[in-house]
Amino acid sequence: MVALLKDAVPVQAVLGTQWGDEGKGKVVDLLGETADIVARYQGGPNAGHTVEFDGECFILHHIPTGILRPHITCVIGNGLVINPDSFQEEIAFLKGKGISIDKRLWISQNAHLILPYHHLIEKVAEEDKGSETLGTTGRGIGPAYADKASRVGIRVGDLLDPGRLAEKVAWNVQMKNGILEDVGGKGSVNVKSILDSLRYFGERIKACITDTSWMLHQEIQKGKRLLVEGAQGTLLDIDFGTYPFVTSSNTTIGGMATGLGLPPRKLDRIIGVIKAYTTRVGNGPLPTELKGAMGEKIREMGGEYGATTGRPRRCGWFDGMVAQYAVRLNGIDVLAVTKLDVLDTLDEVQVCIGYEYRGKALDHFPLTMSVLDEVEPIYDTMPGWKTTISDFKRYDDLPKPARDYLERIQTIAGIPIGIVSVGANRDQTIWME
Ligand code: IMP
Repeated sequence: MVALLKDAVPVQAVLGTQWGDEGKGKVVDLLGETADIVARYQGGPNAGHTVEFDGECFILHHIPTGILRPHITCVIGNGLVINPDSFQEEIAFLKGKGISIDKRLWISQNAHLILPYHHLIEKVAEEDKGSETLGTTGRGIGPAYADKASRVGIRVGDLLDPGRLAEKVAWNVQMKNGILEDVGGKGSVNVKSILDSLRYFGERIKACITDTSWMLHQEIQKGKRLLVEGAQGTLLDIDFGTYPFVTSSNTTIGGMATGLGLPPRKLDRIIGVIKAYTTRVGNGPLPTELKGAMGEKIREMGGEYGATTGRPRRCGWFDGMVAQYAVRLNGIDVLAVTKLDVLDTLDEVQVCIGYEYRGKALDHFPLTMSVLDEVEPIYDTMPGWKTTISDFKRYDDLPKPARDYLERIQTIAGIPIGIVSVGANRDQTIWME
């Protein structure tokens, strides 16, 4: 029998199927063993990708987790927004661990920069919304993408042209200070300090800046294997997520094409990472949310606190409607189920197999937020397995209720499961055959 995911294909993508925090970092790290390049296509330091091995925990925000494997080259695509300060902290953190980025990390000249005025604008907007606040990560993501769409953003490539950079920064600072003053004078920004820090940043990263789309095409042609890494999750997609409670990029598979300059036709396999239950951080609908003691229990057992902000995540049962939606939108071929071990101690587990809206069952995930706010999940109750499964290496060794649970997920999603993660470490993984 052939292991479903251990056999490498030339180009494959890993993305989140829920509201982020599915455990993509570990899956990318595992599949990195057979990849030559890992490329990220969207988001920014709002992401926190966690990998644990050799007793150490690594949390990366911009740089693909592939950097942790010395044979891998990493690419930051044009679809990302980069915060120069936290990006440099990440590089310093990696250096401190003996991990070099020299000739291993390439940044698209067309990626955008997050600058101090983006944080100030986001803060004002969030505060102004009162109870309607989105609950963003506070990393300036929305305003930076807004500048990109407004065609006034500052791109990584601008760092190589000091005259143009100075002009663009001066123009932006004037505009942004005007806006900040109009909304109540909550801080202002200064051209000189931004330019000084950008010049320094430019010097430090200029050797990494390139046309990454061209580079990826060349490398694929040479036969190099590419692993594409998504950030956040399907339900946080700016177009298809639970808008406005979403992030500001296309987390779904289309974002890969535009965020890397890679034609969809190049993709050989799409892997959807799905947690054995549901979580969400920030506000917005979460139909299977558990508001009482069970939600807290899962949060504590799963360590469900944001890797970027430390915020407690909202927890709920596995949502089959979300799984079907993500499979359809992204054309997912195979699932990686994560954190199954978190449910080890439960007497029973529930699986949402559909939604009812005003007495009628829905046949697909609704796009209208007022409908989603009102839907009643339809649950199947299944027995728990009451066994510690973190050391299990083979699917057949899992207790029957755990296998039944996985098979239920597989049936609902309509696609096979390729990996089951039963713990944070690399070896706490069951490869399906
Ligand atoms: P933003 O991306 O900081 O603008 O936040 C918008 C929404 O996306 C908020 O609900 C955040 O909590 C959520 N979000 C952004 N990045 C992540 C992530 O990496 N994991 C989980 N939720 C995220």
